[in-house]
Amino acid sequence: MSGESDESGGTAAAQSFYTRYARLYDAVARNTPGVARLRGRLVDALDPQPGETVVEMGCGTGANLPALRDRVGPSGRVVGLDFAPGAVALARERTARWGNVAVARADARHPPVDAADRVLAAFVVGMLGDPADTVRDWVALLPPGGRVALLDLARTTRPLARPLNLGFRALVALSAPPGTRRRTGDPTRALDRRVAAAHRAVRDATASVARSTHAAGFARLVAGRVPPR
Ligand SMILES: C[S@@+](CC[C@H](N)C(=O)[O-])C[C@H]1O[C@@H](n2cnc3c(N)ncnc32)[C@H](O)[C@@H]1O
Repeated sequence: MSGESDESGGTAAAQSFYTRYARLYDAVARNTPGVARLRGRLVDALDPQPGETVVEMGCGTGANLPALRDRVGPSGRVVGLDFAPGAVALARERTARWGNVAVARADARHPPVDAADRVLAAFVVGMLGDPADTVRDWVALLPPGGRVALLDLARTTRPLARPLNLGFRALVALSAPPGTRRRTGDPTRALDRRVAAAHRAVRDATASVARSTHAAGFARLVAGRVPPR
């Protein structure tokens, strides 16, 4: 959710963290109360259609891949990209029997993909050094009518939930891969900034934008459709 992948040290630290703790992350990614519902909302917002090609950036251990595969059906294709070898291995294990799902080790900042009908990322843009540029590059892969969706965690702005931001801050600090942790300051500020920049990039580059917040305002979802060029 946090931790920079923008410089070589941060990138290496994030890759080794999500490799070493792939199984633990997978359990958290699937079983945290409410997370399945959030993932369902993300896939609904992306709205993949039968026969389409969907690319998930930073797919991790593949928690979203089964639902994406269901939506595109046997004639569609799902591609998951992640730069952590351990996460890729687990996602591949999980999808090995499915001919139309491929998981590749790749840097989402330079995805080895020419085109896609839908692009999504869940809990990833907060790890990118230049999230707005990267998101613009993702949108450029889409045809007019294509759709992009992002799901992220950030501090809540809901007045009644604001006291919980302290706990969120502790969670962000703990879950950041060692080597990417900030020694000073509030790690949630950088996370908020990156998430806001990425979501703004979606809003600026697309039309029919849908935005919503969930989980007491800690989860932010944005999706948009590429307008005619
Ligand atoms: C918090 S996990 C989210 C995983 C998955 N999207 C999910 O919903 O469970 C962040 C993932 O993004 C990956 N990641 C971060 N920066 C990346 C980059 N530049 N390229 C590819 N993967 C990246 C990490 O390896 C990790 O698996």
